[in-house]
Amino acid sequence: MLIKSMAEIGTEISKASRLLENNELVAIPTETVYGLAGNALEPIAIARIYTTKNRPSFDPLITHVNNITNASALVNTFPALAHKLAEQFWPGPLTLLLPKRGHIPNILTSGFDKMAIRVPNHPITLDLLKQISFPLAAPSANPFGYISPTTAAHVNQHLGTKIPYILDGGPAHIGLESTIVSIEEEVICVHRLGGLDLEILRTFGEVKVLSSTKSNPEAPGNLDSHYAPKKKIIIGNLDELLLKYSDSKTGILSFSKIYSNSNKNIVLSENNDVNEAAENLFSALRTLDAEDIDLILGEYAPQKGIGKAINDRLKRASFF
Ligand code: TXA
Ligand code: MG
Repeated sequence: MLIKSMAEIGTEISKASRLLENNELVAIPTETVYGLAGNALEPIAIARIYTTKNRPSFDPLITHVNNITNASALVNTFPALAHKLAEQFWPGPLTLLLPKRGHIPNILTSGFDKMAIRVPNHPITLDLLKQISFPLAAPSANPFGYISPTTAAHVNQHLGTKIPYILDGGPAHIGLESTIVSIEEEVICVHRLGGLDLEILRTFGEVKVLSSTKSNPEAPGNLDSHYAPKKKIIIGNLDELLLKYSDSKTGILSFSKIYSNSNKNIVLSENNDVNEAAENLFSALRTLDAEDIDLILGEYAPQKGIGKAINDRLKRASFF
């Protein structure tokens, strides 16, 4: 039997850039989640991203650059309000949907006229982007539909046999994907809730959160079932759920309260802090997914700040 070797995990930016220049894929750290990166201007590299992730071709990728100037070089227009948001939040967890220039490969945007762009806030990836002469397409570095990775080890677990190198930047600080935004007639339209606090966005203008549909091809990150562990997960009132499922082998994902002394109860933030909870969420889901249990029982976070994005992910993880 042929045993494929796992990816090398390291911090060599020159090695990562060499591989990327040869249209190979490299996993990169960002402040939100790890990305599976390839040259955003090379259809061969982009196609590799889709096959490696097992991602449907209708689901476009986010392009990463290291500053506003390099983002401007990829787009036809950069509306004033979008520019203002970029100045305020880049590098950071904001993705802007902007009309792409003609030379941007259609496979990158699944044929859409707009492309998704952001400047990630991680020193290693910003250094890497400085060293190479092209932007990086990078969806989250997980198999399509599964939980996004927040550590190099998470990436290695599912994609390790498929890619040569993982740049290790430590655990992702934010822990949830970027907030995706487009500007329509001066209104800030949110296509995916994420690491950016909506209340702060509201100080820049009217904000409209677009609702998802079962199969919204404009933002498959908004598919009802996504970010999901393999185990069934039920979200609700934990006291009631624990009573109802007392005959099952359950794991517990609680926000701040301890329900059981077993290691099958993961508490997202004993300090009641939604940011800390976001940072721990995807790791906790992966840990529980690997436990010898039949069911994961969980509860929602408070609907404030990044808590809204946590609850969005919990809802999608529990959809079946
Ligand atoms: O935080 C993040 O955004 C991470 C890190 C690696 O940057 N990336 C990420 O990528 O979450 P991904 O591919 O897992 O999610 C990208 C989402 C998809 O749901 C996709 O549909 C949406 O962005 N998207 C990309 N381009 C789009 C476009 N042109 N129009 C509408 N949605 C788009
Ligand atoms: Mg993803």
